[in-house]
Amino acid sequence: MSRVYLDHAATTPPDPRILAAMWEVYTRHWGNPSSIYLEGQEARHVLDEARAMCARLLGALPREIVFTSGGTESDNAAIRGVALAQRARGRGTHIITTRVEHHAVLHTVEQLQGEGFTATFLPVDRDGVVDLGALEEATGPDTALVSIMAANNEVGTLQPVAEAARIARARNPQVVVHTDAVQAAGAMDIAPDALGVDLLSISAHKLHGPRGVGLLYVRSRTPFQAIMFGGGQEKERRAGTENVAGAAGLAAAMKLAWDEMPARIEHTGQLRNRLLYELPERIPGTVITGPSDPDRRLPNNFSCCFRNVEGESVLLGLDLADIAASSGSACTTGSMEPSHVLTAMGIDPDLAHASLRLTVGKDTTDAEIDRLLSTLPGIVSRLRALAGA
Ligand SMILES: Cc1ncc(COP(=O)(O)O)c(C=O)c1O
Repeated sequence: MSRVYLDHAATTPPDPRILAAMWEVYTRHWGNPSSIYLEGQEARHVLDEARAMCARLLGALPREIVFTSGGTESDNAAIRGVALAQRARGRGTHIITTRVEHHAVLHTVEQLQGEGFTATFLPVDRDGVVDLGALEEATGPDTALVSIMAANNEVGTLQPVAEAARIARARNPQVVVHTDAVQAAGAMDIAPDALGVDLLSISAHKLHGPRGVGLLYVRSRTPFQAIMFGGGQEKERRAGTENVAGAAGLAAAMKLAWDEMPARIEHTGQLRNRLLYELPERIPGTVITGPSDPDRRLPNNFSCCFRNVEGESVLLGLDLADIAASSGSACTTGSMEPSHVLTAMGIDPDLAHASLRLTVGKDTTDAEIDRLLSTLPGIVSRLRALAGA
């Protein structure tokens, strides 16, 4: 039986059209873009084209795009790069973020706390939406940076980023605003001007592109300093010989995602809604996590907790039935700690242990959702019987 892949928030299968674009670069334009001879100049041209494409899709300027090794590096660079530059200008040492960010953001902020910065981790409501009143209260003259994700990777909650940016700037006009748009990219308008942000992170492998490639958008004149040192690549903002094929892959991935966005939203939304409405009917004791209003969460995200079962056992049962799913964040799978996102949302830790995230993709079919819906109830009831529940 063929496998059913329902973990597109973890990573996405590479699209052959993107692989073809990258293969062309690997085989024909493999020079170092810093070299002055023909091979180098050809590679430089490919890199420039990729940058121009990414910039155009974001409504940005090419010089505002910094290619990175993925979402994690983009988040690290945004937070460290801005925090250190703001402090050097005497513009404060206070960072505001939320309790439900990806660890790439949370652990970077925690690291900076050990280097003399202070931090506020904003609370969220039961749906995972950030408390804007708490943001307003926390923002002060010492606040250097606000980082709020556009959409959550575990429960799909969309955050009011534009409103948050307005609130923070009204309190302190020198505040710099970053958003982690790794999950939101391709699912909604993430143009930095629309979101009102100064920095924005994207990762290619969530868009059917290559692993280990991403970008950081940095608005012109934003205080920012490099966190990697070496050559002067990326206008001194990110040292290291450029991943030209990767950048071409990211540009191709974004172009396809942007071109196909309405169709992908429609398709994934329709499949996800089947999960949202049919799964609780088939499995008593299902608690939906994240907003129950489909318009307030990512179109491809379904997440829930089951009463009286262990989440890992559900995942193993699904895997044996040839269905790939996740308990939430790929990074916390295998750890005994309940997810920090579910805990921040006020979900009881016992219930949070039995979490399941199903994320569909552009190539997921109705038949695959049928298979999930007919397989999962049996797995959950067998586990409940074993546990004597
Ligand atoms: C919201 C969010 N931010 C950052 C990352 C990290 O991106 P990458 O895997 O490209 O390092 C992820 C990946 O799961 C994510 O979901």
